[in-house]
Amino acid sequence: MELIKKVARDLLESKYAIAFTGAGISTESGIPDFRGPFGIWKRDPEAERRAYKVYTKFLKDPREYWIEVQKSTIYPIIDKALPNSAHRALSELEELGKIMCIITQNIDGLHHKAGSKNVIEFHGSVSKLRCICCGSRFDKKEFINLIESGRVPKCKICENFLKLDVVHFNEPIPPDIYIRSFNEVMRCDLMLVCGTSAVVYPAAELPRIAKRYGAKVIEINLEETTLTFEGVSDYIIKGRVGEILPKIAEEVKRSKKE
Ligand code: APR
Repeated sequence: MELIKKVARDLLESKYAIAFTGAGISTESGIPDFRGPFGIWKRDPEAERRAYKVYTKFLKDPREYWIEVQKSTIYPIIDKALPNSAHRALSELEELGKIMCIITQNIDGLHHKAGSKNVIEFHGSVSKLRCICCGSRFDKKEFINLIESGRVPKCKICENFLKLDVVHFNEPIPPDIYIRSFNEVMRCDLMLVCGTSAVVYPAAELPRIAKRYGAKVIEINLEETTLTFEGVSDYIIKGRVGEILPKIAEEVKRSKKE
């Protein structure tokens, strides 16, 4: 309980706190993470090796890419998932004016569904399509019939092939997303790092940059991570985000009333 009070106090004293979230914040919504104790890559290393080839597949053969997207088992799980208490707690902390922005590595849109307004989807979103030539984004719903009939969606602006607005391994982070994220990280004086192993770059650079520029970095994770061992995080609260974040939001509300 002491650590909950400490985080709440740090949040109340912060001028511009942001959250940086990873797959660990969505496991309690039924979406498996990648490297945690029951992670996808942990259970099936071959799946990770395949994941590294997806972007090249799109560049070489967009039709084959879309056939694979349609066969994927993870997107239907994401489509059915609902926000959990951790997403709701971060949305409440935004309403309380204590979390100013969420930078998420997740593509599931659950922060938006939980009501958070200022969310940067660093690895994109399954609900959108993106043109890698002109950068235009479209709602996936506009193309669903075309995709389900086995055709490749084309950009309405420049006619090039569209892909999911999901950043695959070896794919560059869209510049607009990178610049917005970098500005938030440079501006924050506190970063709440929730449910990430912080090993995938360039996303994993963000907590390190925050630390380098003087922000307090607080981790919430089931287990220590490389951020803990490297001393990037000032401290870690070990446990489930679905249990810890609501307690932090409650403590912030209670302290604000005093
Ligand atoms: N509460 C707290 N922490 C949790 C919970 C939970 N309920 N469930 C899992 N975790 C922790 C795990 O211990 C792990 O440290 O969340 C972390 C999830 O780490 P990863 O599975 O590596 O997910 P992430 O860090 O988001 O991966 C980054 O890698 O595969 C790519 O693009 C994908 O965005 C992803 C990126």
